[in-house]
Amino acid sequence: MTFDLIVKGGTLADGTRADIAITGDRIAEVAPEIDAEAREVIDASGRLVTQPFVDCHFHMDATLSYGTPRVNASGTLLEGIALWGELKQLQTRQDIVARALAYCRQAVGKGVLAIRSHVDVTDTSFRTVEALLEVREAVRDVLDLQLVAFPQDGWFRAEGAEGQVIRALDAGVDVVGGIPHFERTMADGAASVRAACELAAERGLRVDLHCDESDDPLSRHIETLAAETIRCGLQGRVAGSHLTSMHSMDNYYVAKLLPLIAEAQVAAIPNPLINITLQGRMDTYPKRRGMTRVPELRAAGVTVAFGQDCVMDPWYPLGSGDMLDVAHMGLHVALMTAPDQMHAAFQMVTETAAQVMGLEFGLRKGARASLVVLDAADPIEALRLRPARLAVVSHGRVVSRTVPAQVGVDCGF
Ligand code: FE2
Repeated sequence: MTFDLIVKGGTLADGTRADIAITGDRIAEVAPEIDAEAREVIDASGRLVTQPFVDCHFHMDATLSYGTPRVNASGTLLEGIALWGELKQLQTRQDIVARALAYCRQAVGKGVLAIRSHVDVTDTSFRTVEALLEVREAVRDVLDLQLVAFPQDGWFRAEGAEGQVIRALDAGVDVVGGIPHFERTMADGAASVRAACELAAERGLRVDLHCDESDDPLSRHIETLAAETIRCGLQGRVAGSHLTSMHSMDNYYVAKLLPLIAEAQVAAIPNPLINITLQGRMDTYPKRRGMTRVPELRAAGVTVAFGQDCVMDPWYPLGSGDMLDVAHMGLHVALMTAPDQMHAAFQMVTETAAQVMGLEFGLRKGARASLVVLDAADPIEALRLRPARLAVVSHGRVVSRTVPAQVGVDCGF
């Protein structure tokens, strides 16, 4: 039998050695040794072979726009939103498409094969939505791009935003979004959570809200989101992104909140690169870390996956599309340095992030033939070194190869 592709001698994330044979877009066999012909062979030589990286929280309509028309001087979320408002007026559909495709190529080179991107629907020209629908179509053979109808300027606060969310869903956007902490009042925020959940239930969709992205210890939208998830029967289909206010909440209240989030099966998506820089901006010292309570959420049985959120946009000047950078920052901020916690951090940008998006990868017979070969021995070394993605395979096709940089140290010792 001749396979299309064999990845030979790789080490899986659990430490086992395996050959992986691929026919068409499916994994045909996974075994310690596959002695067969193949049209193409990738010699992994003991290096880590993993399922693809997944970014379950991103903003592709804003990416790679850093400095246009100016930079975010205060570094805050609110100035970022104001700056994005200026950029929205300036950018064309072609600008958005070109930047998004450039970013997708960058991400694929880093082994990212699925992205959930929020798309701002409060741009009345609708060009952000049209652009990202075009991008979703252009990349579909390589990259799963899931779009969230995101009313950036507020479900109720921006005139006509609810109608724009519906218009975006009608146009084919996949998930219902929201931003309750940006509404005018806590009550409006709660009402927006209810509206988002009801709309998702009506249409059989998922929900992913920017939720409590502040340092306000009294922000309570995650509580409403969990309760509305249960009321609308959306268990397992809802995510709360950011949840940074949980960092500042009273411990007694959090002790009640954690089991509620778990009961509702609401997933949590912290975005460590962003929240470590956006939050705590009004603090003197000590400065709060501004990331949600990751180990505690996990211990309560909540699904937690890290997202990247931004790359070179009004909110964040850095970023590279590398989900290992995200996990690296996440485990530092959350103090997750025990070996099992570092393994979990790796899963939070691969398997668990896919689960949040309702996708399934996995290196087993019959699964989609999508994988990444890294220049590292295991997940912890990958987190430490954030090494080259030697080969990226999507749907059975090698879509990216990286030759590691050669370092020639000649320093006399
Ligand atoms: Fe976001």
